Amino acid sequence: MPNEPQRLSSVQADLARHALAALVVSHANNRRYLTGFTGSAGLLVVMPDTAYLLADSRYYEQAAREAPHVVLERAGYETLPRLADVLARHDARKVGFEAGAVTVQQLKEMREKVPGVEWMATTGIVERHRTIKAPDEIDAIRRAIDISDRAMAHAWEVVRPGMTEADLAWALEVYMREHGADGMAFDIIVGAGENGALPHHRAGQRVIHAGEPIVVDMGARLGGYHSDITRTFCIGEARDPDYTRVYDIVDAANRAAIAGARPGMTGKEVDALGRDVIVAAGFGEQFGHSLGHGVGLDVHEGPRVGFLSADAKLEAGMVFTVEPGIYLPGRFGVRIEDIVVLREDGAEVLTRAPKPSSLVPA
Ligand code: GLY
Ligand code: MN
Ligand code: MN
Repeated sequence: MPNEPQRLSSVQADLARHALAALVVSHANNRRYLTGFTGSAGLLVVMPDTAYLLADSRYYEQAAREAPHVVLERAGYETLPRLADVLARHDARKVGFEAGAVTVQQLKEMREKVPGVEWMATTGIVERHRTIKAPDEIDAIRRAIDISDRAMAHAWEVVRPGMTEADLAWALEVYMREHGADGMAFDIIVGAGENGALPHHRAGQRVIHAGEPIVVDMGARLGGYHSDITRTFCIGEARDPDYTRVYDIVDAANRAAIAGARPGMTGKEVDALGRDVIVAAGFGEQFGHSLGHGVGLDVHEGPRVGFLSADAKLEAGMVFTVEPGIYLPGRFGVRIEDIVVLREDGAEVLTRAPKPSSLVPA
C-alpha cells in the first residue's frame, strides 16, 4: 500500500483548520509527496474529499501511472482555465496557494484567469508533514547516505597532492553515479586551504597540497531522497598550528549536539548545544550558519535547526543534519556534518563515515 493516499488525507484534514475550500500545490516535491507524481510541472488541487492533478500533455501518461489515486485533469496548453473549471465545479471560493512556490507573476495570472476565487497565501502546510519521516523514507535516506559515506572513503583513497579540487570532486561524482546514485544532491564542495573558509565554495582549479585542510561536502540523490555529508581532513600532518585545535572544537560541537538533541527541544536549543561549544572556545564569530537543516525529498527542508528557529519544536521521526563549522578567512575552514534521525530517546546517527582529521600519505 503506497503512502500517498494517507499523506493526502492528512492534508485534506488540514483544510478545515485553515478555512480553505481547496489548496493548490505548486511545489514539485510537495506534489510528489502527496501523489507520487515526479513531473517537473503540474498543479495539484487538494479538496476535502477529492484531489485533482492538472498536468500538461508531456505528463498525461506519466501522471496516470505514478499518481493513480488522484483525478487526472488533462490541462492541455493552458492550465489556469482548467484550474478555474475544477474550482468552479466544486464551488470553491477560498483557495490556498503556496506562497513559497508561486511567483508574483504567477499570482497575478491566477487572479486574472481564475475569477471568483479569494486567493489565500499559505506556508508550510505540506512541508510540516514532510518533516516527520516514515520508516520507508528513513530507509531511502539511509541508502543515499550509504553511497556518500562510501564516496568519502573513496576520497581518502584517491586524494593526492597535485590534484585540483575539481579533479577530486569529479572522482567523487563518478563514484557516486557508479555506485547507484541517480544524481548529486548539489554541486560537490571541495575547499582546499583558504577555500575551506568559504562555507559554500564550489570545487575549482585550486591545487590540493599536502598538509592543508580540505573540506569535502557532498550528497547523493537516490529515489528522490538525499544525503549530505561533510568531512575535513589533511593529507599528512597539518601545517597550520591551529588546525588540530580548531578541528577538535568542531568535532566536540558536533558530538555535543548529537548527544543532547531530544524531541520537544526547539531548533534553536539544539543549535545552541553545538554553538555553545564553539562560542566557549572563542570562535563564535567564525560560525555564521545554522547548525543544521532537515533532509528528505529536498536536500534542504524542514525542520530548521538554527539560532533563529525558536518557534517549532523538534519531534521524533525528524531527520536533520548536524554541521557545525569554524571558518578562518585566508587560512582554512573545518566543518563536520552528519545526518541524524530524532528518536524518543535522542538522536540516532545515520551517517557512518569515520572522522579522520588527517590521512596517512600514500
Ligand atoms: N552543502 C550544503 C549543506 O551542507 O547544507
Ligand atoms: Mn553538506
Ligand atoms: Mn547540510
